[in-house]
Amino acid sequence: MRLLIKNGRVIDPANNIDGNFDVRINKGIIDAVGASLKPGKNDQVIDAAGKIVCPGFIDMHVHLRDPGYLYKEEIATGTRAAAAGGFTTVCCMPNTKPVNDNAAVAAYIRQIAARTGIVDVLPIGAITRNQAGEEITEMADLIAAGCVGVSDDGKPVEKAEIMRNALEYAKMFDLPVISHCEDLSLSRDGQIHEGFFSTFYGFKGIPTAAEEVMAARDILLAQLTGGHIHICHISTRGTLEMIRKAKAEGVNVTCEVTPHHLTLTDEVTGTYDANTKVNPPLRSTEHVQALLTGIKDGTIDCIVTDHAPHELEAKDCEYQLAAYGISGLETAVPLIMGLVDEEFTLEQMVRLFTVGPAEVLGIDKGSIGAGDIADITILDPAAVKTVDPKKFYSKGKNTPYGGRTLKGWPYMTIVNGKIVAENGIIIEE
Ligand code: DOR
Ligand code: ZN
Ligand code: ZN
Repeated sequence: MRLLIKNGRVIDPANNIDGNFDVRINKGIIDAVGASLKPGKNDQVIDAAGKIVCPGFIDMHVHLRDPGYLYKEEIATGTRAAAAGGFTTVCCMPNTKPVNDNAAVAAYIRQIAARTGIVDVLPIGAITRNQAGEEITEMADLIAAGCVGVSDDGKPVEKAEIMRNALEYAKMFDLPVISHCEDLSLSRDGQIHEGFFSTFYGFKGIPTAAEEVMAARDILLAQLTGGHIHICHISTRGTLEMIRKAKAEGVNVTCEVTPHHLTLTDEVTGTYDANTKVNPPLRSTEHVQALLTGIKDGTIDCIVTDHAPHELEAKDCEYQLAAYGISGLETAVPLIMGLVDEEFTLEQMVRLFTVGPAEVLGIDKGSIGAGDIADITILDPAAVKTVDPKKFYSKGKNTPYGGRTLKGWPYMTIVNGKIVAENGIIIEE
């Protein structure tokens, strides 16, 4: 089956392409990208006039909750949320039950994904056994079972020596060590960003230093070892500035930011709606502004959702008792589209969702040249919709964006040459 995507504006930062081209797909592979390609008689033609045709979007930080927490999410529902949200590849974090700290769990995830998933699922293995922070995992086995990075996300690696060893070991395989930076002695029991609003609303705060002291440590350890540290969900100006400086000095450091840290401030926690509770917390305007600068100047490598689905009971309770996290896959694209032009360019946005994460992970994805796998995301910059969490494919309805009207949504998601979602609706076989 051949597909011909006609009349779209193709943006492929990996190949330095931005222009009006047609894209032909044959048997799951990009066959040709060119001006005015002629359809063959059996080709399915997709009219992409007014749309943006991009390499398939990659979200390198999601929580799919399988094994162990299928009441929060399943690979079937999480990958449908991803497809509806415009993503063709997701990397799933290892804070499952059991933890993905060995080849058997990674192989299980890959099997369930092959059977029930509709986008590509690349697992992230744990840095330490059971994410306990004591003993590093057998990373060679994890890689052989399909893992593309290691992380103890959800928990920081508290001991510097363990992080040092992990970086040394991971370096042998060119594997990124993905660090959730949080000094628990500073953040413990904190609910929101420590600042004016934590005092005003009466919440225990999480200081910016809780993230920054560990980011500083990890950057120093990357410098010491030459290993690749990737700092998760950066939320503060201080973290950004350290990364900017370290990059200039040639340290092997990369980082990611989430849509919620770019579009919300701590002020919204005054609703006492636990859907605003997330770790790291929503920060003040000063930090949001700094993160936007980090996108403009190229310090930030990729945008990730940190999709953290939770069951209703985990959120429909007192703020202090609620779980941390936002169900993010189905709102990320329009939230970031809302920043395009005002804050950064469309080309920058596409880069952060495609070749950016592909380069962090060292995977052969994120471009649409002839011969590449046909993973494609088509955006409709004119589409306007109101976020309705009840309609999420994700089991996690925990979003602070319910009822918001956003402009610029995914139009079509194509995985391996197959259309899996159109206008936010999953196309089942
Ligand atoms: O908000 C968060 N949710 N932050 C984390 O670090 C973990 C995640 C989760 O697993 O729910
Ligand atoms: Zn985290
Ligand atoms: Zn996470």
